[in-house]
Amino acid sequence: MPGKFIVLEGVEGSGKTTQLQRLQQWLSPKWPKEVVITREPGGTQLGGELRQILLAHRDGEPMQERAELLLYAADRAQHVEGWIKPQLAAGAMVLCDRYTDSTVAYQGYGRGLSLELISQINQLATNGLTSDLTIWLDIDVEIGLARAKQRGKPDRFEQANIEFHRRIQMGYQALAKANRERIVRVDASLPVEQVSQKIQEIVRKVL
Ligand code: TYD
Repeated sequence: MPGKFIVLEGVEGSGKTTQLQRLQQWLSPKWPKEVVITREPGGTQLGGELRQILLAHRDGEPMQERAELLLYAADRAQHVEGWIKPQLAAGAMVLCDRYTDSTVAYQGYGRGLSLELISQINQLATNGLTSDLTIWLDIDVEIGLARAKQRGKPDRFEQANIEFHRRIQMGYQALAKANRERIVRVDASLPVEQVSQKIQEIVRKVL
C-alpha cells in the first residue's frame, strides 16, 4: 500500500502520546500526503465505545480475561478494516498509539493468556496487516506509572498491581528481542526532546 504504518508501544506513562504529536509535526512537511494520529483502543466510533467499556471500573463483576481479549480484537478489526487500510490506500502516514504488541504484552504476559491464542486472535483482527515500524518507548514501570497517575483518575489498567505492569514490561522486552527487524527500542527516560530526536533518526530510515 502507498502509505506507511508506524506504531508506538510501551507501558503506562512511557510518553507515547506526546511523542506521537511531536512526530506528526516533524513528519508533516516531509510526507507528501496526510500524517494522521490514531490509537487503540478507540480509533473509530465503535472503538471509542469499546474503549469506555474496556477502561471502566466495574464493581462486583470483573471483566473476564478472554472477554477483554475479544473486545480489544473487535476494536482492532474495526480500526484496521474501517480506518487504517483506507488511510494507507490513500497514501497517508498512519501513526498509531498501540497495536498488536500491546495485546501480546498486556493480555499475554500481563494476564497470562496463551501467546499462541493471542497470535491467532491478532491475525483474525488485523487480517495480516503489520506495522512498517514499531517503536518501543522503554521506561521503568514505576516511573511510568507515577507519570500516568499525574494525569488524573487512574483507569482499570493503571490501578492494577505493580507485578502486572512488570510482566507487561517483560513482554515488551521479549517482543523486541524476537522481532529485531520490526521493533526498535528507544530509552524513554531521556528528556522529551532527546527521545523525539531518537525517534526521528529511526523513522528517517523508513521514509
Ligand atoms: P492507552 O490509551 O494507550 O493507555 P495509556 O495512554 O494509559 O498508555 O491504552 C489503554 C489501555 O489499554 C492501556 O492500559 C493498555 C491497554 N491495552 C491492552 O491491554 N491490550 C491492547 O491490545 C491494547 C491496544 C491496549
